[in-house]
Amino acid sequence: MPIPTIRPGTAILARAPGRVNLIGEHTDYNGGFVLPVAIPQQTTVEVVPREDLRVRVFSADMNEEREYVLGQEKEGQGWLDYVQGVTLLLAKNGYLLRGFDVRIGSEVPLGSGLSSSAALEVSLLRGLRQAFGLQLDDVKLALLGQKVETDFVGAPVGIMDQMASSLADQKAALFLDTRTMQHERVPLPEGMELIVIDSGVAHQHAAGDYKVRRAECERAASMLKVNQLRDLTEADLPKAMALPEPLGRRVRHVVTENARVLASVDALRAEDLPRLGQLLNASHESQSRDYEVSIPEIDLLVKLAQQEPDVYGARLTGGGFGGSIIAAAKAGSGAKAAAQVSTIQARRPNCGG
Ligand code: GLA
Repeated sequence: MPIPTIRPGTAILARAPGRVNLIGEHTDYNGGFVLPVAIPQQTTVEVVPREDLRVRVFSADMNEEREYVLGQEKEGQGWLDYVQGVTLLLAKNGYLLRGFDVRIGSEVPLGSGLSSSAALEVSLLRGLRQAFGLQLDDVKLALLGQKVETDFVGAPVGIMDQMASSLADQKAALFLDTRTMQHERVPLPEGMELIVIDSGVAHQHAAGDYKVRRAECERAASMLKVNQLRDLTEADLPKAMALPEPLGRRVRHVVTENARVLASVDALRAEDLPRLGQLLNASHESQSRDYEVSIPEIDLLVKLAQQEPDVYGARLTGGGFGGSIIAAAKAGSGAKAAAQVSTIQARRPNCGG
Protein backbone atom coordinates (compact mmCIF):
# COMPACT_ATOMS: atom_id res chain seq x y z
CA MET A 1 0.00 0.00 0.00
CA PRO A 2 1.61 3.30 -1.05
CA ILE A 3 1.86 5.78 1.79
CA PRO A 4 2.06 9.51 0.94
CA THR A 5 5.55 10.82 1.30
CA ILE A 6 5.28 12.73 4.56
CA ARG A 7 8.87 13.91 4.78
CA PRO A 8 10.03 13.60 8.40
CA GLY A 9 10.09 16.94 10.19
CA THR A 10 8.16 18.77 7.46
CA ALA A 11 4.61 17.69 8.26
CA ILE A 12 2.24 19.97 10.16
CA LEU A 13 0.59 18.01 12.91
CA ALA A 14 -2.93 18.85 14.11
CA ARG A 15 -5.34 17.01 16.37
CA ALA A 16 -8.98 17.22 17.48
CA PRO A 17 -10.92 15.10 19.97
CA GLY A 18 -14.17 13.20 19.71
CA ARG A 19 -16.91 14.24 22.12
CA VAL A 20 -19.44 12.71 24.45
CA ASN A 21 -22.61 14.64 25.18
CA LEU A 22 -23.45 14.75 28.89
CA ILE A 23 -27.00 15.92 28.22
CA GLY A 24 -29.01 17.94 25.66
CA GLU A 25 -29.80 15.52 22.86
CA HIS A 26 -31.52 16.49 19.60
CA THR A 27 -31.77 20.03 20.90
CA ASP A 28 -29.06 21.60 18.71
CA TYR A 29 -30.98 21.67 15.42
CA ASN A 30 -33.92 23.08 17.40
CA GLY A 31 -31.90 26.09 18.56
CA GLY A 32 -31.53 24.72 22.10
CA PHE A 33 -28.87 23.91 24.70
CA VAL A 34 -26.20 21.17 24.78
CA LEU A 35 -23.52 20.11 27.26
CA PRO A 36 -20.77 18.05 25.59
CA VAL A 37 -17.32 17.08 26.92
CA ALA A 38 -14.19 16.21 24.89
CA ILE A 39 -13.05 12.57 25.13
CA PRO A 40 -9.37 11.54 25.32
CA GLN A 41 -9.52 9.82 21.89
CA GLN A 42 -8.41 12.10 19.07
CA THR A 43 -8.00 12.27 15.32
CA THR A 44 -4.55 13.29 14.09
CA VAL A 45 -3.65 14.71 10.69
CA GLU A 46 -0.18 15.25 9.24
CA VAL A 47 -0.29 17.79 6.43
CA VAL A 48 2.48 18.54 3.92
CA PRO A 49 1.68 21.39 1.48
CA ARG A 50 2.41 20.76 -2.22
CA GLU A 51 3.29 23.09 -5.07
CA ASP A 52 0.38 21.91 -7.26
CA LEU A 53 -3.39 21.54 -6.73
CA ARG A 54 -3.37 17.82 -6.02
CA VAL A 55 -4.64 16.41 -2.70
CA ARG A 56 -3.34 12.99 -1.69
CA VAL A 57 -4.99 11.43 1.35
CA PHE A 58 -3.91 8.37 3.24
CA SER A 59 -6.31 7.00 5.85
CA ALA A 60 -4.45 4.79 8.33
CA ASP A 61 -7.77 3.37 9.59
CA MET A 62 -9.01 2.40 6.14
CA ASN A 63 -5.45 1.57 5.02
CA GLU A 64 -6.30 3.30 1.80
CA GLU A 65 -4.87 6.13 -0.32
CA ARG A 66 -7.07 8.35 -2.50
CA GLU A 67 -6.46 11.54 -4.43
CA TYR A 68 -8.24 14.37 -6.22
CA VAL A 69 -7.57 17.83 -7.59
CA LEU A 70 -8.72 21.00 -5.78
CA GLY A 71 -11.75 22.46 -7.56
CA GLN A 72 -12.79 19.02 -8.83
CA GLU A 73 -14.37 17.71 -5.60
CA LYS A 74 -17.14 15.21 -6.34
CA GLU A 75 -19.65 13.86 -3.80
CA GLY A 76 -20.27 10.17 -3.15
CA GLN A 77 -16.67 9.05 -2.51
CA GLY A 78 -17.23 7.52 0.95
CA TRP A 79 -14.81 8.66 3.67
CA LEU A 80 -13.02 10.95 1.19
CA ASP A 81 -16.11 13.19 1.21
CA TYR A 82 -15.10 14.59 4.60
CA VAL A 83 -11.78 15.76 3.12
CA GLN A 84 -13.27 16.93 -0.18
CA GLY A 85 -16.04 18.75 1.71
CA VAL A 86 -13.45 20.62 3.79
CA THR A 87 -11.45 21.85 0.77
CA LEU A 88 -14.58 22.75 -1.21
CA LEU A 89 -16.18 24.65 1.69
CA LEU A 90 -12.94 26.52 2.40
CA ALA A 91 -12.73 27.58 -1.26
CA LYS A 92 -16.40 28.61 -1.32
CA ASN A 93 -15.76 30.79 1.73
CA GLY A 94 -12.85 32.56 0.05
CA TYR A 95 -9.93 30.71 1.68
CA LEU A 96 -7.03 30.07 -0.68
CA LEU A 97 -5.43 26.63 -0.64
CA ARG A 98 -2.76 24.78 -2.52
CA GLY A 99 -2.63 21.04 -2.79
CA PHE A 100 -1.34 18.91 0.06
CA ASP A 101 -0.51 15.39 1.18
CA VAL A 102 -2.25 14.31 4.35
CA ARG A 103 -2.11 11.26 6.54
CA ILE A 104 -5.13 10.73 8.80
CA GLY A 105 -5.23 8.47 11.84
CA SER A 106 -8.00 8.29 14.40
CA GLU A 107 -8.53 6.80 17.84
CA VAL A 108 -12.21 7.84 17.84
CA PRO A 109 -14.28 4.76 17.01
CA LEU A 110 -16.43 5.16 13.89
CA GLY A 111 -20.22 5.08 14.19
CA SER A 112 -20.21 4.93 17.99
CA GLY A 113 -21.90 8.30 18.59
CA LEU A 114 -18.62 9.93 19.68
CA SER A 115 -18.22 12.29 16.71
CA SER A 116 -15.49 10.67 14.68
CA SER A 117 -16.57 12.77 11.70
CA ALA A 118 -16.41 16.10 13.59
CA ALA A 119 -12.96 15.12 14.92
CA LEU A 120 -11.83 14.52 11.33
CA GLU A 121 -13.27 17.79 10.04
CA VAL A 122 -11.88 19.86 12.92
CA SER A 123 -8.41 18.27 12.90
CA LEU A 124 -8.12 18.74 9.13
CA LEU A 125 -9.34 22.33 9.30
CA ARG A 126 -6.79 23.01 12.06
CA GLY A 127 -4.01 21.43 9.98
CA LEU A 128 -4.93 23.45 6.88
CA ARG A 129 -5.33 26.64 8.95
CA GLN A 130 -1.75 26.21 10.10
CA ALA A 131 -0.34 25.02 6.77
CA PHE A 132 -1.86 27.87 4.72
CA GLY A 133 -2.16 30.62 7.36
CA LEU A 134 -5.98 30.76 7.14
CA GLN A 135 -7.75 33.43 9.22
CA LEU A 136 -10.21 31.12 10.92
CA ASP A 137 -11.22 31.33 14.59
CA ASP A 138 -12.39 28.26 16.48
CA VAL A 139 -16.12 29.02 16.16
CA LYS A 140 -15.88 29.78 12.42
CA LEU A 141 -13.88 26.59 12.03
CA ALA A 142 -16.65 24.58 13.76
CA LEU A 143 -19.34 26.18 11.58
CA LEU A 144 -17.41 25.24 8.44
CA GLY A 145 -17.07 21.67 9.71
CA GLN A 146 -20.85 21.47 10.18
CA LYS A 147 -21.39 22.78 6.63
CA VAL A 148 -19.18 19.98 5.31
CA GLU A 149 -21.75 17.55 6.76
CA THR A 150 -24.92 19.39 5.79
CA ASP A 151 -23.87 20.69 2.35
CA PHE A 152 -21.48 18.00 1.09
CA VAL A 153 -21.82 14.72 3.01
CA GLY A 154 -25.61 15.06 3.18
CA ALA A 155 -26.09 14.58 6.94
CA PRO A 156 -28.35 17.37 8.27
CA VAL A 157 -26.64 17.56 11.68
CA GLY A 158 -26.65 20.40 14.21
CA ILE A 159 -23.60 22.32 15.46
CA MET A 160 -22.91 20.48 18.72
CA ASP A 161 -20.24 18.01 17.58
CA GLN A 162 -18.01 20.44 15.69
CA MET A 163 -18.26 23.03 18.48
CA ALA A 164 -17.35 20.38 21.03
CA SER A 165 -14.41 19.09 18.99
CA SER A 166 -13.19 22.65 18.38
CA LEU A 167 -13.75 24.17 21.83
CA ALA A 168 -14.33 21.56 24.54
CA ASP A 169 -11.81 19.90 26.84
CA GLN A 170 -11.94 16.90 29.17
CA LYS A 171 -12.15 18.77 32.45
CA ALA A 172 -15.23 20.87 31.75
CA ALA A 173 -18.52 20.52 29.92
CA LEU A 174 -19.12 23.01 27.11
CA PHE A 175 -22.46 24.67 27.88
CA LEU A 176 -23.54 25.92 24.47
CA ASP A 177 -26.57 27.89 23.39
CA THR A 178 -26.81 26.71 19.78
CA ARG A 179 -28.99 29.67 18.79
CA THR A 180 -26.60 32.42 19.86
CA MET A 181 -23.42 30.27 19.90
CA GLN A 182 -22.71 31.70 23.36
CA HIS A 183 -20.70 29.16 25.31
CA GLU A 184 -19.22 28.66 28.71
CA ARG A 185 -17.09 25.94 30.28
CA VAL A 186 -18.66 24.33 33.34
CA PRO A 187 -16.03 22.40 35.35
CA LEU A 188 -16.80 18.75 36.03
CA PRO A 189 -16.93 18.04 39.80
CA GLU A 190 -13.90 16.20 41.19
CA GLY A 191 -16.17 13.63 42.82
CA MET A 192 -17.47 12.42 39.47
CA GLU A 193 -16.11 10.27 36.67
CA LEU A 194 -17.75 9.77 33.27
CA ILE A 195 -18.13 6.32 31.73
CA VAL A 196 -18.79 5.74 28.04
CA ILE A 197 -19.82 2.30 26.79
CA ASP A 198 -20.11 1.59 23.05
CA SER A 199 -23.06 -0.69 22.23
CA GLY A 200 -21.24 -1.93 19.13
CA VAL A 201 -24.30 -1.06 17.03
CA ALA A 202 -23.15 1.50 14.46
CA HIS A 203 -25.34 4.43 13.41
CA GLN A 204 -25.40 6.59 10.25
CA HIS A 205 -26.74 10.14 10.30
CA ALA A 206 -26.82 10.54 6.55
CA ALA A 207 -29.37 7.69 6.64
CA GLY A 208 -33.09 8.06 7.27
CA ASP A 209 -34.02 8.21 10.96
CA TYR A 210 -32.07 11.29 12.04
CA LYS A 211 -33.46 13.21 9.05
CA VAL A 212 -36.99 12.07 9.92
CA ARG A 213 -36.68 13.39 13.50
CA ARG A 214 -35.38 16.69 12.25
CA ALA A 215 -38.22 17.02 9.74
CA GLU A 216 -40.78 16.15 12.46
CA CYS A 217 -39.42 18.97 14.63
CA GLU A 218 -39.60 21.46 11.77
CA ARG A 219 -43.16 20.41 11.00
CA ALA A 220 -44.21 20.73 14.65
CA ALA A 221 -42.58 24.17 14.93
CA SER A 222 -44.41 25.40 11.87
CA MET A 223 -47.76 23.99 13.10
CA LEU A 224 -47.20 25.68 16.47
CA LYS A 225 -46.20 28.89 14.65
CA VAL A 226 -42.77 29.26 16.20
CA ASN A 227 -39.44 29.66 14.49
CA GLN A 228 -37.80 26.74 16.30
CA LEU A 229 -38.88 24.40 19.14
CA ARG A 230 -36.45 26.31 21.37
CA ASP A 231 -39.10 29.03 21.49
CA LEU A 232 -41.53 26.80 23.42
CA THR A 233 -41.77 26.22 27.18
CA GLU A 234 -43.50 23.64 29.33
CA ALA A 235 -46.59 25.91 29.31
CA ASP A 236 -46.93 25.19 25.57
CA LEU A 237 -47.01 21.42 26.01
CA PRO A 238 -50.80 20.96 26.22
CA LYS A 239 -51.08 22.67 22.80
CA ALA A 240 -48.19 20.56 21.45
CA MET A 241 -49.72 17.31 22.70
CA ALA A 242 -52.82 18.07 20.59
CA LEU A 243 -50.73 17.79 17.39
CA PRO A 244 -51.02 14.56 15.38
CA GLU A 245 -48.92 11.65 16.70
CA PRO A 246 -45.92 11.54 17.13
CA LEU A 247 -45.29 15.30 16.87
CA GLY A 248 -46.45 16.13 20.41
CA ARG A 249 -44.04 13.63 21.95
CA ARG A 250 -41.16 14.93 19.82
CA VAL A 251 -41.88 18.47 21.07
CA ARG A 252 -42.17 17.26 24.66
CA HIS A 253 -38.71 15.69 24.44
CA VAL A 254 -37.08 18.84 23.08
CA VAL A 255 -38.77 21.21 25.54
CA THR A 256 -38.06 19.07 28.61
CA GLU A 257 -34.51 18.27 27.43
CA ASN A 258 -33.66 21.96 27.14
CA ALA A 259 -34.90 22.42 30.72
CA ARG A 260 -32.81 19.42 31.83
CA VAL A 261 -29.65 20.95 30.34
CA LEU A 262 -30.18 24.13 32.36
CA ALA A 263 -30.89 22.08 35.49
CA SER A 264 -27.77 19.96 34.86
CA VAL A 265 -25.59 23.07 34.65
CA ASP A 266 -26.97 24.08 38.08
CA ALA A 267 -26.37 20.57 39.44
CA LEU A 268 -22.75 20.57 38.18
CA ARG A 269 -22.11 23.97 39.73
CA ALA A 270 -23.62 22.83 43.04
CA GLU A 271 -21.74 19.50 42.74
CA ASP A 272 -25.11 17.84 43.33
CA LEU A 273 -24.35 14.52 41.67
CA PRO A 274 -27.51 12.63 42.69
CA ARG A 275 -29.54 15.43 41.05
CA LEU A 276 -27.39 15.24 37.91
CA GLY A 277 -27.97 11.48 37.87
CA GLN A 278 -31.78 11.93 38.03
CA LEU A 279 -31.59 14.32 35.08
CA LEU A 280 -29.54 11.86 33.01
CA ASN A 281 -32.02 9.09 33.75
CA ALA A 282 -34.98 11.31 32.86
CA SER A 283 -33.24 12.30 29.62
CA HIS A 284 -32.90 8.65 28.65
CA GLU A 285 -36.54 7.94 29.38
CA SER A 286 -37.55 10.90 27.22
CA GLN A 287 -35.24 9.87 24.33
CA SER A 288 -36.52 6.33 24.48
CA ARG A 289 -40.25 6.96 24.98
CA ASP A 290 -40.93 10.34 23.35
CA TYR A 291 -38.16 10.81 20.82
CA GLU A 292 -37.79 7.10 19.98
CA VAL A 293 -34.09 7.19 19.15
CA SER A 294 -33.03 4.33 21.44
CA ILE A 295 -32.76 0.64 20.59
CA PRO A 296 -33.06 -2.45 22.86
CA GLU A 297 -29.25 -2.92 23.14
CA ILE A 298 -28.86 0.65 24.38
CA ASP A 299 -31.87 0.46 26.75
CA LEU A 300 -30.31 -2.61 28.32
CA LEU A 301 -26.89 -0.98 28.79
CA VAL A 302 -28.53 2.09 30.33
CA LYS A 303 -30.60 -0.04 32.71
CA LEU A 304 -27.58 -2.09 33.79
CA ALA A 305 -25.54 1.06 34.37
CA GLN A 306 -28.35 2.66 36.37
CA GLN A 307 -28.43 -0.42 38.62
CA GLU A 308 -24.77 -0.05 39.59
CA PRO A 309 -24.52 1.30 43.15
CA ASP A 310 -21.77 3.82 42.31
CA VAL A 311 -23.51 5.17 39.21
CA TYR A 312 -25.56 8.37 39.65
CA GLY A 313 -27.34 8.12 36.29
CA ALA A 314 -27.01 6.98 32.68
CA ARG A 315 -28.41 7.71 29.25
CA LEU A 316 -28.01 7.20 25.51
CA THR A 317 -25.55 9.78 24.17
CA GLY A 318 -25.29 11.17 20.62
CA GLY A 319 -27.71 10.86 17.74
CA GLY A 320 -29.01 7.40 18.70
CA PHE A 321 -30.22 4.36 16.72
CA GLY A 322 -27.04 2.70 18.03
CA GLY A 323 -23.88 4.28 19.39
CA SER A 324 -22.90 4.67 23.04
CA ILE A 325 -24.20 5.34 26.52
CA ILE A 326 -22.78 7.78 29.04
CA ALA A 327 -22.97 7.31 32.80
CA ALA A 328 -21.86 9.52 35.67
CA ALA A 329 -20.16 7.52 38.42
CA LYS A 330 -18.53 8.20 41.75
CA ALA A 331 -14.86 9.15 41.18
CA GLY A 332 -12.65 6.06 41.33
CA SER A 333 -15.55 3.66 40.57
CA GLY A 334 -16.01 4.23 36.85
CA ALA A 335 -13.82 1.46 35.47
CA LYS A 336 -15.28 -1.13 37.86
CA ALA A 337 -18.87 -0.15 37.11
CA ALA A 338 -18.21 -0.19 33.34
CA ALA A 339 -16.59 -3.63 33.53
CA GLN A 340 -19.54 -4.91 35.55
CA VAL A 341 -22.08 -3.60 33.02
CA SER A 342 -20.15 -5.11 30.08
CA THR A 343 -19.83 -8.46 31.81
CA ILE A 344 -23.54 -8.72 32.64
CA GLN A 345 -24.49 -7.58 29.14
CA ALA A 346 -22.17 -10.11 27.49
CA ARG A 347 -23.82 -12.92 29.47
CA ARG A 348 -27.28 -12.07 28.13
CA PRO A 349 -28.27 -13.87 24.93
CA ASN A 350 -29.34 -11.80 21.86
CA CYS A 351 -28.59 -8.44 23.37
CA GLY A 352 -25.76 -7.19 21.27
CA GLY A 353 -23.11 -8.51 23.68
C1 GLA B 1 -25.57 13.93 16.20
C2 GLA B 1 -25.47 15.27 15.50
C3 GLA B 1 -25.57 16.43 16.50
C4 GLA B 1 -26.78 16.27 17.40
C5 GLA B 1 -26.83 14.85 17.99
C6 GLA B 1 -28.09 14.62 18.79
O1 GLA B 1 -24.46 13.73 17.00
O2 GLA B 1 -24.24 15.37 14.81
O3 GLA B 1 -25.62 17.66 15.80
O4 GLA B 1 -27.96 16.59 16.73
O5 GLA B 1 -26.75 13.87 16.99
O6 GLA B 1 -28.08 15.40 19.92
